[in-house]
Amino acid sequence: MITFDQTNHIFHLSNGRISYVMQIEEGGNLAHIYYGKYLAHYSGGYRYPRIDRSFSPNPPGSKDRLFSLDTLMMEFPGNGFGDFREAAYDIGHQNGSHVTHFVYQGHEIMQGKPVLAGLPQTYGDADAIETLCLSLIDETAKLELKLSYSIFSDTAAIVRSSQLINHHEQQVRIEQFASQSIDFPNRPLDLIHLHGAWARERQMTRESIQIGTKRLDSKRGSSSHQQNPFSILADPQTNEVQGTCFGFSLIYSGSHETVIERDPYQQTRVIMGINRDHFNWQLNQGDIFQAPEVVLAYSDQGLNQLSHVYHDFYDQHLIRGNFKNKERPILINNWEATYFDFDEDKLDHLVDEAKALGIELFVLDDGWFGQREDDQTSLGDWFENEGKLASGLAGFAKKVKDRGLQFGLWLEPEMVSGDSELYRSHPEWRLEVPQRQPALSRSQYVLDFSRQDVRDHIYQQLQKLFDRVPIDYIKWDMNRNMSDVYSLLLDPAQQGEVAHRYMLGLYDFLEKLTTAYPQILFEGCSGGGGRFDPGFLYYMPQIWTSDNTDAIARLKIQYGTSLVYPPSTMGSHVSAVPNHQTHRITDLSIRGHVAMSGLLGYELDLTQLTTAEKTAIKEQIHVYKEHRHLLQFGRFVRLLSPFEGNDTAWMYISQDRSEAMVFYFRVLAEASAPLVTLKLQGLDAEKQYASDLGIQGGDELMQIGFYVDPHLAGDYASQMYHFKAIDKPEM
Ligand code: GLA
Repeated sequence: MITFDQTNHIFHLSNGRISYVMQIEEGGNLAHIYYGKYLAHYSGGYRYPRIDRSFSPNPPGSKDRLFSLDTLMMEFPGNGFGDFREAAYDIGHQNGSHVTHFVYQGHEIMQGKPVLAGLPQTYGDADAIETLCLSLIDETAKLELKLSYSIFSDTAAIVRSSQLINHHEQQVRIEQFASQSIDFPNRPLDLIHLHGAWARERQMTRESIQIGTKRLDSKRGSSSHQQNPFSILADPQTNEVQGTCFGFSLIYSGSHETVIERDPYQQTRVIMGINRDHFNWQLNQGDIFQAPEVVLAYSDQGLNQLSHVYHDFYDQHLIRGNFKNKERPILINNWEATYFDFDEDKLDHLVDEAKALGIELFVLDDGWFGQREDDQTSLGDWFENEGKLASGLAGFAKKVKDRGLQFGLWLEPEMVSGDSELYRSHPEWRLEVPQRQPALSRSQYVLDFSRQDVRDHIYQQLQKLFDRVPIDYIKWDMNRNMSDVYSLLLDPAQQGEVAHRYMLGLYDFLEKLTTAYPQILFEGCSGGGGRFDPGFLYYMPQIWTSDNTDAIARLKIQYGTSLVYPPSTMGSHVSAVPNHQTHRITDLSIRGHVAMSGLLGYELDLTQLTTAEKTAIKEQIHVYKEHRHLLQFGRFVRLLSPFEGNDTAWMYISQDRSEAMVFYFRVLAEASAPLVTLKLQGLDAEKQYASDLGIQGGDELMQIGFYVDPHLAGDYASQMYHFKAIDKPEM
């Protein structure tokens, strides 16, 4: 999969789907040549032309006026020697200079993929992976840059990361250090990315890339509701089913940045990594700084295929543990049913109703611990609110389990309330700048998870809880972003390290916890989907997609999320109407269809349901259980986009293509409306499929499609279609 042409100094990574080509240029400069569809062989004909661009300096050692880093397509650019575009790194030296220049020193091609210490990462069988480890050196500074490129035999993706090692006795200060950078030659490109806000996560937006620099980032100490660490570059004619596109997905849950620059020669650079803002890192002799991984996926058949690369890759090579490829339980969460206002009696009724409906897991949300009766207190006190549950937490959990349901609990371990025992005994454990009052958000502070003592204390509390209460599931929340990022244990000169040290501390904590309790299903959450990223998925196989449970708002949220994250990761619940976030009233049927499009759950007061509603929910649960594997792990295909109009549709196809489930959603009804045809994808053209529509060939369903029922009435309408392959009827 990886070759090195000794004569022309060309590296070629390929696997039958993609090729990635680099060349060691004059002076040891590492140039980018090509990334895209598989090439059986690269013969060297695309070397960067020699041309005298005025005001383009020649790198040291080069007497060739026609050779400049100013315009060369680079692999990991700095800005010391005449590349004036955005740089992948910025390193401050003792003499005040920020000039660093890395040249090729050597490389190693190895089977498998080296482990990234302390960070979430993709993995796989060593026989099916090859890694190119390039070593570059700045001789003056005695700094070594290691660039790692892994290629998996079955995936149209390259996994990249970078590492910096200081071999000098003098310390350097890293001001910025990206995970990857790549240059695209002159070609028109669109940028697609996922932005949003609380309750409006991962909205898909698309724009044409113009000359200049665009920066997409989060400075919030978390991957954020506002900007997911994911972007796509696409040829302008690319849509869901055709065209070339390149995805960039950062495996990190903290502050991140993606910088896209189009230079005067229409070349496009994409840099991705930890956010440089409020970041710096002291690197002493022998120290290594490891940047997080980026997964670069490729598709020449549109966005759907790009998503399939990510879905398969994350399901198989990122998510770990007992729940990998395992069907997830249908849950009832009491949050929107009761908020903080619950007692055992109320919960008992919910559990009884849940049981009768076929729900499998009861999740006790916020309010069971410390003195917590509202969101003002007790974060940090992870022991039960004595007296709130008559049988006590363990007693109640046991009752739930005796009734045949699993038991789950909500936690927010990275936080502390001012009004808490933890804060009273350790006020110094929050993030705060000396002599300054830190900012409150949702009446809470962020604990300094960069500190071992803080982590140990929280860990011990959780250990006690987990060992006492029979817990099957944890919802791990984080309800504010970081401000006042400062750790009292670190020197002033190291304060730029705190946000990343926090992430390393958190990852260390999660590794330990999820390893110690492999039987617990963890679901990530941050005020809904504020930390929905591949970093978290390495520890927790599913994430609460959004606090917005409105079916119509969820169409866009889930559609955008599906660009990169598989359905097996998306928690989605049926809630009450009027919806608590949008106040919209929708039918139970569309709420069910939207929630069944992810990991189905319920989040409403089941005791208030009418008999007809209970019957409808029982039926939803029955259908979901029957098709759960298909809906959680089937091939997910987007058919109609909520970002483009009134109609949304998506489908799931089983691995052997013998079955498919299709959902259609219409936002507003219209009189005398044009008919809507749904053309399916991914079926077996040779097979016949039976559905409520009759028996149709896979080719017919994909080429002609079918009409959505023109009698579908009213706003917020939806339809579900199940297709099952049958043996060909005798002619
Ligand atoms: C966050 C979560 C909600 C709920 C509340 C509890 O907002 O996203 O689902 O758990 O916290 O306080």
